[in-house]
Amino acid sequence: MTAVRMEGKVVAAAVKERVREQLEAAGNPPVCLATVLVGDDPPSQRYVASKQKQAAEVGMKSRHVGLPPTATQEEVMAAVQGLVDDPAVHGILVQLPLPAGLDDHSVIDLLPTEKDVDGLTAASLGRLVRGERGLVPATPRGCLRLLEHYGVATRGARAVVIGRSTLVGLPVALLLGAKGTDATVTVAHSRTPDLPALCRQADILVSAVGVARLVTAEHVKPGAAVLDVGVSRTEAGIVGDVDFDAVSEVAAFVTPMPGGTGVMTVACLLENTLEAARLQGVL
Ligand SMILES: NC(=O)c1ccc[n+]([C@@H]2O[C@H](COP(=O)([O-])OP(=O)(O)OC[C@H]3O[C@@H](n4cnc5c(N)ncnc54)[C@H](OP(=O)(O)O)[C@@H]3O)[C@@H](O)[C@H]2O)c1
Repeated sequence: MTAVRMEGKVVAAAVKERVREQLEAAGNPPVCLATVLVGDDPPSQRYVASKQKQAAEVGMKSRHVGLPPTATQEEVMAAVQGLVDDPAVHGILVQLPLPAGLDDHSVIDLLPTEKDVDGLTAASLGRLVRGERGLVPATPRGCLRLLEHYGVATRGARAVVIGRSTLVGLPVALLLGAKGTDATVTVAHSRTPDLPALCRQADILVSAVGVARLVTAEHVKPGAAVLDVGVSRTEAGIVGDVDFDAVSEVAAFVTPMPGGTGVMTVACLLENTLEAARLQGVL
């Protein structure tokens, strides 16, 4: 079997086009996404620049607050609070992780749920657990959109999510197992025994770890859908958690890296920003 490549680029372009059309239909109100970056980590700078560029492509404004790596907890919190209080800012994204010594949670939790376009505050994650409407973390939302686009059935499916972070693993698991989506989900992590055997039970396998080529053909049930979220920077360049070529021989669907889940993340962030603006009565 040679798997179908789940082309994040194609699906993300369609998501962004829908966002652009909805803004245009509303008369292009000034919807603004603010990004906050503490420090000068080059990959984080690239992520932030890409988010701003793509916001402009769909007709959104963006604002950026950059703070030095030496910024204190109080300085970071004051900068974020300024954006929270600004009615011209509709969505706020704090680029994570913050430099060592800063507390991510108390910074993120300053965001009101209607501006929390990353869906990562305790309140937004609580809503996700309760199955209440709210802004859903962008990477997990992108994974679900890919499955939907490629017609991968979730009801009755057995899903395994590798990784249990609040950024990716846990929200993906919650979305897959939510009422209406109805997969039966197992969450695996670094202490899971016999990971390959567990993964081979999965009709849907999502890997959100950050260990290069962790998932090989021996982890995959024939005909499964495999989503690769992990990103590792190696001497050979950026690689995912999934050994794409080997897994393509066994799976029915697999995301490439790059061009899979990563591009979906930005598209879903823009979708969340549109939703945030709606929640704030802008359109
Ligand atoms: N594609 C995108 O748009 C996107 C977005 C966000 C993040 N990412 C990438 O996704 C990956 C995960 O991000 P994260 O923030 O969730 O990372 P994280 O907080 O470091 O979590 C990694 C998870 O992987 C588990 N793990 C580590 N080694 C393992 C192993 N050998 N076998 C099984 N599980 C293992 C850890 O288990 P323990 O809990 O036991 O430690 C942890 O739950 C990273 O590579 C990140 O760069 C990609």
